[in-house]
Amino acid sequence: MSADTTTSGDGPVPELRERAVACAERLRDADRVLLASHIDADGLTSAAVAASALERAEIPFETVFAKQLDEREVARIAATDYETVLFTDFGSGQLDVIAPHAAEGAFTPVVADHHQPADLPDGVPEPGHHLNPLLFGLDGASELSGAGASYVLARALEPSDGDNRDLAALAVVGAVGDMQATDGGLSGANQGIVDEGVAAGVVEEATDLLVYGRQTRPLPKFLEYASDVRIPGITNDANGAVEFLSGLDLDLREDGEWRRWVDLTMSERQTVVSGLLKRAIASGVPASRIDALVGTTYTLTDEAPGTELRDVSEFSTLLNATARYERADVGLAVCLGDRGDALDRARTLLRNHRRNLSEGLQWVQNEGTTVEEHVQWFDAETRIRETIVGIVAGMAVGSSGIRGDIPILAFAEKSDEEVKVSARGTHALVREGLDLSAVMREASRAVGGDGGGHNVAAGATIPTGSREAFVAEADRIVGEQLS
Ligand code: C5P
Ligand code: C5P
Ligand code: ZN
Repeated sequence: MSADTTTSGDGPVPELRERAVACAERLRDADRVLLASHIDADGLTSAAVAASALERAEIPFETVFAKQLDEREVARIAATDYETVLFTDFGSGQLDVIAPHAAEGAFTPVVADHHQPADLPDGVPEPGHHLNPLLFGLDGASELSGAGASYVLARALEPSDGDNRDLAALAVVGAVGDMQATDGGLSGANQGIVDEGVAAGVVEEATDLLVYGRQTRPLPKFLEYASDVRIPGITNDANGAVEFLSGLDLDLREDGEWRRWVDLTMSERQTVVSGLLKRAIASGVPASRIDALVGTTYTLTDEAPGTELRDVSEFSTLLNATARYERADVGLAVCLGDRGDALDRARTLLRNHRRNLSEGLQWVQNEGTTVEEHVQWFDAETRIRETIVGIVAGMAVGSSGIRGDIPILAFAEKSDEEVKVSARGTHALVREGLDLSAVMREASRAVGGDGGGHNVAAGATIPTGSREAFVAEADRIVGEQLS
């Protein structure tokens, strides 16, 4: 496939950059900084971008991670003797909790985030160092991620003789990890970051097959597990995938072993893609789905070919496999360049994560969802880890037997007292007025919990036993939004 490196996009908007300069000034004034971030791929890359920038600017810091920034977590941070706290990939949604601590002088917050900001209690002043695309007319769910906001901050922190554009690589991993790319690739301020990464020689943009595992999977497994666009006789069909490849008149094995997508020449890839398209058309896959087979991909050119880290999408899955299993330290070390023990450990965690996702999805598809008037839901209880139930819910929407035209709510047990809820919608529903961030916040508060997030993907924690009331409330609010 042709490498198509576009240089459109005009970078993060000037106002955002100005705000970043003010945030950077505050950080430079600090003796030391506590860096607090979220435990997913975007949170890890946010932390890694910020940590690298602080390090290069010679500002001492310590890094901590949290599953969720709630009152308890913010109180714990306030109790440390750090005077400056940099929050990345969370903080905006908890400004109502953070701002009162700041007003009391517990610490000065600097927030680089992309979540829907919370309303402040009456009389509490808005913290000044708040870097969020939503404040500048950008969409926080698709145009800039937490890692992107951290990257804008990192550029503002650049020493006079330094260049932080290499950190664009991690910012792109964060955006893709937060599902901000469509088959047309990244857009908005994200595209500006891609362009800077391309210019710095760390990112490559291409048009390629949009299938997970381009770098690491042997060809038959690569095609067999390509579940985004189902091709009958190949997807989920080990023998079918081998037969298809064997029928292509290409030499796809080397020393008896199947080659990987990354090992193929452009012309070999063309042959496989045309074969796939032909097969998809012949099997009656709708044209819109067929189009989604090919799209924009991002490669990190400094990483070794054939490793998870080379492909942005594989990299982000590897990171989720660490942080969502209480091993954020492992993912952060990989982001910061550890290609030894940390990478080995991350690969082991990845095998476990992928098994959990596939078993979780299987369970949801077997069980099906309960369909209300405007939403559908399932309760995995303890069958799916609460830290990945949102990922499973996102994979389930519109997959075999699960409706794709209404939002999905996914419940999992968090503790004896608390239940985690993840909500996922579609961009089409968002265009009709869906805002899951508001749904999760309002419905959870109605039952004594709390939540927030993005219009298309959001989450909440609610008290055990309040599921029924929560579903009713969420169903009502979604109905209002879509009416
Ligand atoms: O907290 P954070 O913003 O990092 O998490 C975003 C979450 O929203 C991710 O789990 C991502 O998978 C999900 N998401 C989604 N679809 C989108 C955008 C985000 O499922 N279009
Ligand atoms: O946990 P999950 O992947 O479902 O989270 C989806 C989005 O909702 C993320 O951006 C997350 O930060 C946000 N969220 C939140 N408050 C919660 C739970 C999730 O803002 N209590
Ligand atoms: Zn994020």
